[in-house]
Amino acid sequence: MIENSENSNIQQVLQSVGKTSVWISAIRAVLTAHFIDSFGKGNDQEGGQAVVSGGGAGASNINLSINKTKEFELYAIEIIKKKFGLSNFKDPRMEIKYPVDLVFDPYSFYFISKLNTKELILSTYDQYFNFTYDKQFDQLSLEMKSISKTELKRKEMDRIETNFHSVLSWADLMSSHVFYSIAKRTHLIDKVFLDSYQEGLQQFVVFGAGMDTRSYRLPLDAKCTIFEIDLPGVLKFKEKALQEAIKEIPPVGQCKIQFIPSDLSSLDWNHKLKDMGFDNSKPTLWVAEGLFMYLSESTIESIGELVSANSAPKSKYFVHSLMNRTSTTPYYQPTPHDFFKMKADTVKEEFKYILNLNCKQYLIRHGFSFNVKEIQEMGNNIISIYSMGSNQ
Ligand SMILES: C[S@@+](CC[C@H](N)C(=O)[O-])C[C@H]1O[C@@H](n2cnc3c(N)ncnc32)[C@H](O)[C@@H]1O
Repeated sequence: MIENSENSNIQQVLQSVGKTSVWISAIRAVLTAHFIDSFGKGNDQEGGQAVVSGGGAGASNINLSINKTKEFELYAIEIIKKKFGLSNFKDPRMEIKYPVDLVFDPYSFYFISKLNTKELILSTYDQYFNFTYDKQFDQLSLEMKSISKTELKRKEMDRIETNFHSVLSWADLMSSHVFYSIAKRTHLIDKVFLDSYQEGLQQFVVFGAGMDTRSYRLPLDAKCTIFEIDLPGVLKFKEKALQEAIKEIPPVGQCKIQFIPSDLSSLDWNHKLKDMGFDNSKPTLWVAEGLFMYLSESTIESIGELVSANSAPKSKYFVHSLMNRTSTTPYYQPTPHDFFKMKADTVKEEFKYILNLNCKQYLIRHGFSFNVKEIQEMGNNIISIYSMGSNQ
């Protein structure tokens, strides 16, 4: 009976838009594997997480956070090495060509190994050959062009079948730019959380949280609460996978975590949030990362209205959106090797539309017109836009 309900959660994750969260988590797992590989070799970075910067708290708090994070990393690295057997970090599939700031998210390994990721990877390859291969044919290398599509597909599928490894196979699947982009966005939003925390914010709401683990891996104290909203099946799966994970790798963060299972296209998340202890008299950091592309314009607007209505002064709203590249915007030029990889096609299959939402106007329209900042990040054909504003 228990097994059945677990299977049904897994199916809900794999068969709905929830699978996009597995993709992102898998990318973070590959970045984490690289992080572990480089750790202690003199080129390890300042933790996997953004180092707390600026803000009102004293330097001792900052040092404490850095120490806690380092301790967490050292401990988690040993567990990951033992449990997931990544002894062969030098597999060529692990190569990331684009310059990347690595990420440390040990919990991502638990998510991708709990699911039938092999099935997801194979179906992604299948989709690539059905939909993308012909479109990209001109850009493939001569060597790849010389093999027929059927033969190439068979070779690739056989390779995954026989060499399947839940982390390495994801590394096999994605172009280096995807790693770059997710690493950059993870660091950016980690910093938004930590800076807000240093400024005194204690309430955080994450829309479409998926397999995001900031609640566990950022050094937030016990006065903080993070509300994570996502589809019921996704959150049930996440909760179950984390039960095992946090027993083995205790979180660095002490914050309270409240899951709000809800479809954001209905308005009930707002009531559930309040039922679970959200306090609209406290300033809040609201975050929508990797989400708007899966929602309709009217849902995005309704979220903006409710965020605005529930934001005490000094609240902040961070949104991430996508825009089509224009002829003049610089872009990432994929290598032939990258073309062979799948890029974001499974994720795009779930896109409602590529937004050309004017994020600045969106924030201003909903009352977040102070200190509006925007960063654009070039992609291949799509640009990621990260914007944040405050309501005072
Ligand atoms: C690409 S994932 C991003 C996850 C996470 N924010 C991250 O960046 O790692 C998109 C997430 O949005 C969630 N999502 C999409 N549509 C949703 C909806 N209508 N209601 C609630 N969650 C939704 C999916 O289930 C998935 O977990």
